[in-house]
Amino acid sequence: MADNRRPENMERITTPELALAFIDEQLAALRAQIGDKKVLLALSGGVDSSVVAALLIRAVGRQLTCVHVNHGLLRKGESEQVIEVFRNQMDANLIYVDAVDRFLDKLAGVADPETKRKIIGAEFIRVFEEEARKLEGIEFLAQGTIYPDILESGPVKAHHNVGGLPEDLNFELVEPVKFLFKDEVRVVGKALGLPDNMVYRQPFPGPGLGVRCVGAITRDRLEAVRESDAILREEFAKNGLAGKVWQYFTIVPDFKSTGIRDGLRTYDWPVVIRAVNTVDAVTAEVAELSFPLLQHITARITSEVKGVNRVLWDVTPKPSGTIEWE
Ligand code: XMP
Repeated sequence: MADNRRPENMERITTPELALAFIDEQLAALRAQIGDKKVLLALSGGVDSSVVAALLIRAVGRQLTCVHVNHGLLRKGESEQVIEVFRNQMDANLIYVDAVDRFLDKLAGVADPETKRKIIGAEFIRVFEEEARKLEGIEFLAQGTIYPDILESGPVKAHHNVGGLPEDLNFELVEPVKFLFKDEVRVVGKALGLPDNMVYRQPFPGPGLGVRCVGAITRDRLEAVRESDAILREEFAKNGLAGKVWQYFTIVPDFKSTGIRDGLRTYDWPVVIRAVNTVDAVTAEVAELSFPLLQHITARITSEVKGVNRVLWDVTPKPSGTIEWE
């Protein structure tokens, strides 16, 4: 059993210098562990898996194969950025799997939140396993496990409860950031040259936009979630709120209301804005947004997002509301 306790004398990585020292240490450790063998990594584009990918690319180059599964529930531009950063800029061996139809077909008609999560998690493992079986000679599986995952105090990944790869795949684990806290992973990511919008990104749930397209997911309503989320993120970035507000996103519930556009009656969905601040995601406060900003975002969403005629602002703290809507 690997020791899963952070060494007591391990210094907190708070500066670029400390990050560079950590990187040097890890590169040597990774090369010693992996030798000339091959490693596989599921690369979502989140901070943890991106930092692990960047470390492994430096340590063992094309002995690493990254698999990026697009399950159709990612934010606008996310898969494209993974391809741009890792394949084009870092010359990674990256397999892009377009599994959008597979996931959306499996999810069709499923309204129960936990069933949706289970389907997404199980299908993800299945797609990744299929890709792993196509590759030859893989001996190691890299993972972006971080220390809060080990301590199980982090509510964010505690939702991942779908099991893992089948035993017969029998990979040895490579977990270079398993003793780091999130802020340390970010400092290391920055030192590795990853783009700021990857390093400082807000938390994003594994089931992605799937839990924000409330109830049974349909492709058109999912697009409304994705497009409204992109507008919200763009406006937060423009107004200096990205990196200041802990988490912000949009939700599209499964009901319609009447509206009016160009003199004609519409019957369309509302978009809900959720923006919260928290320390540990166990409780959360609503972020105060300026009214002119809310009005501007509302105008953009109702004119640019298809099928939407209203914008609502969720002013509920946690508790009583959770951060996500399902
Ligand atoms: P809630 O909604 O429980 O969310 O207040 C707390 C934090 O956890 C994230 N979250 C998830 N993360 N898989 C994840 O990886 C999930 O199923 C999941 N559900 C919620 C949520 O975005 C927030 O940061």
